[in-house]
Amino acid sequence: MRSFAARARKGGDVNTDAIQRPPPEIRYADQLARLRDSDRHERPPGWALSLDAARRFVVGDDALSVSRKFVGDPSLIDRALVTLATSRGLMLVGEPGTAKSLLSELLAVAVSGSSTLTIQGGAATTEDQIKYSWNYALLVSEGPSTRSLVPAPLLRGMAEGRIVRFEEITRCPLEVQDCLLSPLSDRALTVPELTGSDGLVFAREGFNVIATANTRDRGVNEMSAALKRRFNFETVFPIADLATELDLVEAEARSLLERSGVRTPPRRDVLEVLVTTFRELRSGTTERGDAMDRLSSVMSTAEAVSVAHAVGLRGWFLRGGAGSAADLVACLAGTAAKDDPEDLARLRRYLEQQAPLHDGPQWKALHEARNLLPG
Ligand SMILES: Nc1ncnc2c1ncn2[C@@H]1O[C@H](COP(=O)(O)OP(=O)(O)OP(=O)(O)O)[C@@H](O)[C@H]1O
Ligand SMILES: [Mg+2]
Repeated sequence: MRSFAARARKGGDVNTDAIQRPPPEIRYADQLARLRDSDRHERPPGWALSLDAARRFVVGDDALSVSRKFVGDPSLIDRALVTLATSRGLMLVGEPGTAKSLLSELLAVAVSGSSTLTIQGGAATTEDQIKYSWNYALLVSEGPSTRSLVPAPLLRGMAEGRIVRFEEITRCPLEVQDCLLSPLSDRALTVPELTGSDGLVFAREGFNVIATANTRDRGVNEMSAALKRRFNFETVFPIADLATELDLVEAEARSLLERSGVRTPPRRDVLEVLVTTFRELRSGTTERGDAMDRLSSVMSTAEAVSVAHAVGLRGWFLRGGAGSAADLVACLAGTAAKDDPEDLARLRRYLEQQAPLHDGPQWKALHEARNLLPG
C-alpha cells in the first residue's frame, strides 16, 4: 500500500520543506552530525551523544555553529541529562508555554537521535496506547504472537533503547499513569498473552522516560506517590528578562515567517511592544514596577511567538508590508480573551491606560488602534 505521503504527493516532487513542523532530528540534522563527529567524550551506554555534546546541542555552541535552542538556565540541562543517564525518569513541570515539550524533544534527540516515540496524555489515554495493542485480523487468525503484537511507544522505547516522551502525563487517569511503575523500576514489561521469552521485554540501555506536566491545567498532585518517586522533577521557568525574551520571539517569529513565505517581518520595535505587553499582562506589573490588572489567560512566551507570527502574516498578506502595532491589537484578542470575558475588558483597559504611559511611536500606534479590539 502506498504511504499517506506518497498518496498526497501524487505525481509531484517530494518537497520536505512542505512539512509544517519538522521534528528536531530533521531540522537540526547537520548540527547533530557535527556534534557526533567531534564528540571526544565518553557516552553513557545506549546514548547517541556524550553528555557534553548533548548539552551543547540544547544550549548551543558557536564554535560548531550549533544554535541555542532552549533559553534558560544551562544547569537545568545538565541535571536533566544526568537524570536521563540514571534509572529515574525526568519530569518537566511548569507554567504553560515555557518550552517543556520543546525541551523534552531536544533532550530525546540528543540522547536517542529521535524524538518521535511520544505518548500524548489525555482523559481518554489507554494502556494500549502506551504499552502495546494487537492487529485484530492477525490475532484472530494466528492468535497472540510477536507478529500480531503492535508495539506502542513504551514497548518500542524499551526494546530499542530509546527515550520515550510522555506529554501532559497528569491529564491521564491515575491507574493508566501507573502502568509506568514496573517499566521504570524493574526495567521490564510483561506481555502476559505471549509465552516463553517473548512474554517479557527487557529495557535496553538508552531507554528512559521524559514526562511533561502543566501546573496550570491540572497539578502534579494528580499522580501517585509511587510514580512520583520514580521521577526526578525539574521546573521550567518563564524567561526572566525582557531582552532575552525579545531576542527569542524575534528569532522564532523570523523563522516561522520565512517558512510562511513572508519576506518582511515585523520591526524589532513592534516586537518589543508585543513582548512588553505580554510580560505586563502576564505578571500584573508594569516594567516600571507598578501594579496593574493581570489576565487570567496564559500569556506565555509560546503565545507571544504565535502572535508575532500572526502579526507578520497580517502585515504581509493583507498589505504586502511589515506587521504593525495595529496588527498586534487585532491579533491580541484571540490570545488574551479565551474563556474569561473579563479578560477582554482588562486588555481594553491596558490599551487605554497603560499603553500611553510608554514612550515611542509604536506605543502611540498601539493606543490609537485600541478600537480594533472586537466587542
Ligand atoms: N525558554 C525557552 N526557550 C526556547 N523557546 C521557548 C522558551 N520559552 C518559550 N519558548 C517558545 O515556546 C515554544 C515551545 O512551547 P512548548 O509547546 O514547548 O511549551 P510547553 O511548556 O510544552 O507548553 P504547554 O504547557 O502548553 O504544553 C517554542 O517553540 C518557543 O517558540
Ligand atoms: Mg507541552
